[in-house]
Amino acid sequence: MLESPTIEAGALDAPARASEEVLVLDFGGQYSQLIARRIRECGVFAELMAADVAVEQIRERSPKALILSGGPASVYDPSAPSFPGDLLELGIPMLGICYGMQVMVQALGGKVEGAEAGEFGRAELTLRNGGGRLLGGLPEEQTCWMSHRDAVFEPPRGFLALASSPASPVAACEDPERGLYGIQFHPEVVHTPYGTEVLTRFLREIAGFEMQWSPQSVIAEQIEAIRDQVSDGRVICGLSGGVDSSVAALLVHRAVGDRLTCVFVDHGLMRLNEAEQVVEAFEQYGIPLVHVEAEDRFLTRLAGVDDPETKRKIIGEEFIRVFEEEAAKLEDARYLVQGTLYSDVIESGGSDHAATIKSHHNVGGLPEDLEFELVEPLRMLFKDEVRAVGAELGLPERLVWRQPFPGPGLAIRIVGGEVNRERLDILREADAILQEEIRAAELYRQLWQSFCVLPVVRSVGVQGDGRTYAYPIVIRAVTSDDAMTADWARLPYDLLEKVSNRIINEIRGVNRVALDISSKPPSTIEWE
Ligand code: XMP
Repeated sequence: MLESPTIEAGALDAPARASEEVLVLDFGGQYSQLIARRIRECGVFAELMAADVAVEQIRERSPKALILSGGPASVYDPSAPSFPGDLLELGIPMLGICYGMQVMVQALGGKVEGAEAGEFGRAELTLRNGGGRLLGGLPEEQTCWMSHRDAVFEPPRGFLALASSPASPVAACEDPERGLYGIQFHPEVVHTPYGTEVLTRFLREIAGFEMQWSPQSVIAEQIEAIRDQVSDGRVICGLSGGVDSSVAALLVHRAVGDRLTCVFVDHGLMRLNEAEQVVEAFEQYGIPLVHVEAEDRFLTRLAGVDDPETKRKIIGEEFIRVFEEEAAKLEDARYLVQGTLYSDVIESGGSDHAATIKSHHNVGGLPEDLEFELVEPLRMLFKDEVRAVGAELGLPERLVWRQPFPGPGLAIRIVGGEVNRERLDILREADAILQEEIRAAELYRQLWQSFCVLPVVRSVGVQGDGRTYAYPIVIRAVTSDDAMTADWARLPYDLLEKVSNRIINEIRGVNRVALDISSKPPSTIEWE
């Protein structure tokens, strides 16, 4: 019953390279990606495919098992996605979750009906018939997390009912002979305490997976794949300082050594010492790096500009210009490394390589007419998996766990006025104090982002015996899973007090600190 954008048929056929895999057929559930992530955490490679993909496409991938995800539809809605009956021909184990179970049960002759009350949130699950193969051995009574209005009242012939909950007469069922399993609850969310056990039972004992996949196991595979693709060609990689491009660059360097050159366009809008950290890390690995110190170029072009979109556009254009100039110097480089992640592949809804150059943000993104062939070694990984790979490759902790940082950098955090060196220095210092204290309080990894904003207004203050007329600094700290929605972080008062005191005492030009307590929506994470 939970909705997310549905994926078009055949959209997600990114190449899988794991020897054993599960395909998650996505009926549009909000948690479909999470199902894939949880399965991978169990040690099995999983990828999403649209639920209406042709069975031949599935057969080509020869998965060892299928999961049918939840989805927002009711099986009674004539336009609801139907059960692809020819899946049964594959003869592999199949687990339907929520809508995925209902659609299977209904297609095979069971009874699914709208219940009087839906179940949303925690529900008590009671095992029946000993829990069968799927749930046997788990506690007779347990909590699980549900999100549905329709419910299964009778399983199809040949199926055994395995559990019930107050609003789901049949909350789980199975037909082990045909390898068909269904659960009404969501094993992928943390509020289902035995969820991982249920998934593991299905994967290991029912589908016979060896459970040996790990993000680290991708390293060797990818190195080989990169060597195959690039052969003896030369490769270029634009570094942003973020974890994705850094890990992608490290992998490619392992594969092709000095035939990789990294280009780091330093626009002067980074945080304190961040540019140095990137350069140091890559020098330490001996990776050829062109560090383009372009602060003057960017600031000259930004002079007098206070409109946010114009700022973004200028920075984007200048970034591309600098990158192209540097790329032109490496004449024989034919390949371009991109830190595209699996979530980008899903978001852009396509496997078409040309469309996967990150275009959803206008800075750091490169134009599509650059004549490079893309190398995308992280295309199959989620963000947390990329971090694990980065750590395994020895990337410094600061880079592995770096919070997301926008391409236009501090320029979009100087709000309502021109970006100039004085304001950048004030903002950089304030931001450094905030980061230092947040790290000291061990909150850095728990926050999606934490940063300072400098609104270009001045207010009156008093310091010593004198009046001041200076800038305020706004603290913005949010929690989020994917930046689509975010909540303001409840930072401890003691921490806020310390940060505020330090910013006002240590930075000339600031006499006031405010806290942003807005969530997204209706606000955004950044101020511009
Ligand atoms: P908002 O402010 O829209 O941000 O809630 C969502 C996420 O995107 C980042 N962001 C950007 N990243 N170029 C980028 O590369 C940009 O122009 C840009 N604007 C916002 C933001 O930091 C947050 O993580």
